[in-house]
Amino acid sequence: MAIDFHARANRGTYADRRASAVWAETIRRLVDPTGRRVADIGCGGGIYSRKWREIGADEVVGVDFSAEMIGAAREQAAGLSRVSFRQGDAAATGLPTGNVDIVFQRALIHHLKDYAACFAEARRLLVPGGRLIIQDRTPADVELPGSPDHIRGYFFERFPRLLAVESGRRPTEAAVRQALQAAGFDRIESTTLWEVRKIHPDVEHLEQDLAARTGRSILHELDDSELADLIATIAARLPAGDTIIEKDRWTLWSATA
Ligand SMILES: C[S@@+](CC[C@H](N)C(=O)[O-])C[C@H]1O[C@@H](n2cnc3c(N)ncnc32)[C@H](O)[C@@H]1O
Repeated sequence: MAIDFHARANRGTYADRRASAVWAETIRRLVDPTGRRVADIGCGGGIYSRKWREIGADEVVGVDFSAEMIGAAREQAAGLSRVSFRQGDAAATGLPTGNVDIVFQRALIHHLKDYAACFAEARRLLVPGGRLIIQDRTPADVELPGSPDHIRGYFFERFPRLLAVESGRRPTEAAVRQALQAAGFDRIESTTLWEVRKIHPDVEHLEQDLAARTGRSILHELDDSELADLIATIAARLPAGDTIIEKDRWTLWSATA
């Protein structure tokens, strides 16, 4: 069953991780965040909203359609100045027109049936010349094989049906580019990023993280016994006692309004 973003039980699932330095370096190569106003759409628990502020944005507003996610985001950002959150849909945020320099959408668009309305809304929010940055995984990203630092690849080796779900819901590089063009964006560029997701001090830490399904919506497609099987399979593939630096491959699109 797909993840329910509105469920109380999933409130913290995109809230307490920290965005990595490699993510910040990649963003800085795409756009200078210093002094910019940023809208983080589909912000979840605000992991990246907080990071945009940390890397120099002047003001960040996070938008998510889930009241639970917004509640968690507010808790996590308590005490941070000029970071706020509001409940709203990606296609109708309720934010003012032409009031931000950067719109960011991470791991959002694969949850949408149609990108057109969401991209049109992003364009409405941006000042002329403002930048939309989208981060998601394409089918080419998700199909990469499993390894001790690409744990997610093992999910699909063990349960090939998950790959059909995952590839089926992910946007191709070309489909996003076309939708951006159709929405009136130009200077569309894409790049890939191996983002450090989490550093696990040992296999047991990774096992606990997988068992909680935290931040991994695809694992909501497995029942508890399948998940236990997957965790045992992965643990058997990893060197005992080693730190696990878990990474995921992403595609980032940058486009100018
Ligand atoms: C996979 S999470 C990513 C959260 C965050 N961007 C991150 O990368 O940590 C996807 C988020 O998009 C939100 N979302 C999904 N569809 C949405 C929509 N139509 N409008 C606004 N938010 C949406 C969900 O509630 C969820 O918080």
